[in-house]
Amino acid sequence: MSAPSLAVVILAAGKGTRMHSSVPKVLHPLAGVPMLQRVVRTACELSEDIIVVTSPDAEAVRSELATAGVRFAVQERQRGTGDALAAALPEIPADIDQVLVLCGDVPLLAAATLQRLRAVTAAGGVSLVTARFPDPKGLGRILRDGEGCISGIVEERDATPAERRIDEINTGIYLLPRARLDAWLGRLDAGNAQGEYYLTDIIRFAVESGLAVASITCDDLTEVTGVNDRAGLVRLEREFSRRVAEQLLAAGVTVMDPARVDVRGELHVGQDTVIDVNCVFTGKVVIGRNVQVGAHCVIEDASIDDGAIIAPFTHIQGAHVGSEARVGPFARLREGTDLGERCRIGNFVETKNTQLGADSKANHLAYLGDAILGEGCNVGAGTITCNYDGVDKHPTILGDGVFVGSNSTLVAPVRVADRAYVAAGSTITSPVPADGLGVGRARQRNIAGWKRPKKTTEAD
Ligand code: UD1
Ligand code: CA
Repeated sequence: MSAPSLAVVILAAGKGTRMHSSVPKVLHPLAGVPMLQRVVRTACELSEDIIVVTSPDAEAVRSELATAGVRFAVQERQRGTGDALAAALPEIPADIDQVLVLCGDVPLLAAATLQRLRAVTAAGGVSLVTARFPDPKGLGRILRDGEGCISGIVEERDATPAERRIDEINTGIYLLPRARLDAWLGRLDAGNAQGEYYLTDIIRFAVESGLAVASITCDDLTEVTGVNDRAGLVRLEREFSRRVAEQLLAAGVTVMDPARVDVRGELHVGQDTVIDVNCVFTGKVVIGRNVQVGAHCVIEDASIDDGAIIAPFTHIQGAHVGSEARVGPFARLREGTDLGERCRIGNFVETKNTQLGADSKANHLAYLGDAILGEGCNVGAGTITCNYDGVDKHPTILGDGVFVGSNSTLVAPVRVADRAYVAAGSTITSPVPADGLGVGRARQRNIAGWKRPKKTTEAD
């Protein structure tokens, strides 16, 4: 028998009032990725047929998911989870066997849990994911009969004191037979404490029509925790980063304190690399073996090769650092920076769209923009490339073995050929030939017997 066909409906029309935000709740990022985007990615592992239920004004949600391959259904008014699923019904083909219901604000659910749910669901049957929360406040409680079979779900606000003591809760994740949905959702009424159409009522309908309701328990509460406010969001994010840190530790990477690292994207790290405290990794970051990342570094969309040392307080964005290079402390590598092997970039050096050949250095206080440096160059403190004339950007090109004296101004477009020197304090506006010395500054003159100025008025 072939596996039942499956459509996924992601409920995401809720108001999210408690976020106090102009951004829809489901678009708030968890570890760098909007929560809803995470749920969609998980759903994609199970089905290509994904319907996202939004409110009518959720243009931002639709544009965020424009290329995600999902369809949208609009819930005109937010009248409860049952009404939200009803809004998706016209979008679910009638010949689909099962409908998986997910919530857009439960971001860390794993596809494996959903596969487990599918495995326990009988053909034409109903199933749901439950969990045991030490503090189940605000959540729907699972009701079971004398035999332990699920008989219904009661929302906290409708529950008796005895029911409130139940710690098995409804995670809001269900697998439902498509063929029954029109009838069940049509029967919902809003006669409850919140005056809403509760999706949870259909569990009772299923039991009444003689269907067994299967369930799985999710022991990992992080997976099934929904986000209602910012405090909940940052708690989940902390847990996410801590888990990435634990995985790195297990794989041979030293993360000095798993509670003090932030991973907001994809982080790949080689063995024997050490990551000191309070680093933030965003986007896709690939770090090789034996790398040292000092405390307080912010690294985004970057690759750092084996044996490199990134000293504390360094900011790296869209850059490549070659093997055994040393960067920082207090360095800023911006997009398009490419450092060759054993390069050195020291404190208060900014680079943008700049390549340094192997063994080149800029150790202190410099700006290198739109520049190409050969191998073994030395850029003195205070040197800047004047790459922008107010309209266009221009390149600065240094050959191999170039020495730029301190406090030089390289006015682009300009070239300094192999092994040339630039005298300290020069303003270089024309090419310096190979093996030459470019001097572009006023000659010093000394005035003998210089008299110090005298005060003309006494300050009173
Ligand atoms: C719901 C469940 C509760 C469960 C909890 C788990 C109901 C009646 N209760 O409660 O048993 O323990 O989830 O988190 O279903 N949504 C819409 N349109 C609406 C209302 C909600 O799309 O009109 C969406 C929300 O965006 C959210 C999901 O449905 O993604 C759950 O809504 P929420 O209001 O958080 O449900 P709860 O009342 O917390
Ligand atoms: Ca909720």
